[in-house]
Amino acid sequence: MRVLLVGGGGREHALALGLAADAGVSALIAAPGNPGIASVAELRTVTATDPAAVAALAVETAADLVVIGPEAPLVAGVADAVRAKGIAVFGPSGAAAQLEGSKAFAKDVMTAAGVPTARAFVCTDEASTARALDEFGAPYVVKDDGLAAGKGVVVTDDRAAALAHANECGRVVVEEFLDGPEVSLFVVTDGEAALPLVPAQDFKRLGDGDTGPNTGGMGAYAPLPWAPAGLVDEVMRDVVHPTLAEMRRRGTPFAGLLYVGLAITAAGPRVIEFNARFGDPETQVVLALLETPLGGLLHAAATGTLAEHPPLRWRDGSAVTVVLAAPGYPAA
Ligand code: AMP
Ligand code: GLY
Repeated sequence: MRVLLVGGGGREHALALGLAADAGVSALIAAPGNPGIASVAELRTVTATDPAAVAALAVETAADLVVIGPEAPLVAGVADAVRAKGIAVFGPSGAAAQLEGSKAFAKDVMTAAGVPTARAFVCTDEASTARALDEFGAPYVVKDDGLAAGKGVVVTDDRAAALAHANECGRVVVEEFLDGPEVSLFVVTDGEAALPLVPAQDFKRLGDGDTGPNTGGMGAYAPLPWAPAGLVDEVMRDVVHPTLAEMRRRGTPFAGLLYVGLAITAAGPRVIEFNARFGDPETQVVLALLETPLGGLLHAAATGTLAEHPPLRWRDGSAVTVVLAAPGYPAA
């Protein structure tokens, strides 16, 4: 199987290592890739968010499977363009990627599916934002509605700062604060069948001791020895399957990687957010523990045959990753 991997970050490096280690993968091409990925894949240049360009590259490289790493190409409809060429692709359609592309859309799906999540208001002006902030009280949670590379969320006790962030964003989701440790659960799905990976935890604040602004994630580890027994089964039952059913009902089934960001509150697990792709840096630790060949797993999800896939196998032990960021991150 020839695989084209789209993207070029740390997550794609982990995907490339996993794909290269799969004996079923005969050729691995990454676009644009990065210098680390170059040690296991042939690099090609492409504008990852250009659907026609990625589809043309998939044809040119005779790819049997295209794996799309980041969210921006997914939201731009790159998976649709590749599928239209008759090539299997791991990653949701542009319509289904709205689960990540719009926080308001995700809330709407969660409400329809009865998924436990924070109560929230969608606000587009200062008066409605102020009302929503006062309804929930501090700590205030204000989220940019659109994609913001994990940096669109402000959690603060400072009401003026919360209002200022809302003004900068335009359309925001204001929601109740969820108190409890966070868990990232990745689920591989073909739209109907779904296989959870091991839960991981990442740390989003910039500084040591969980201080400073939110980032895309500064480090991660897996598995989680402290996670409540039965957590994964509960989330599959109460969150993942109802969400997949609601997406099918809307005529936009979600196939690819459903990333469930959870807070484990005193009242039980609550969804903080959905993402439509593997998380970064959690993927680096989760895939380090996966023994099952990655290419075969993603191909099964891409071709609607996940129900026939054997159970996943995991290595014993733990994995940890730490992010080194350039000065000025995450502002610049
Ligand atoms: P998100 O982009 O939605 O994952 O938000 C980024 C981070 O902000 C999350 O990982 C949490 O640390 C924090 N966060 C988001 N929503 C909430 C919430 N309702 N309550 C508490 N913390 C939140
Ligand atoms: N680590 C958080 C994310 O990938 O969104």
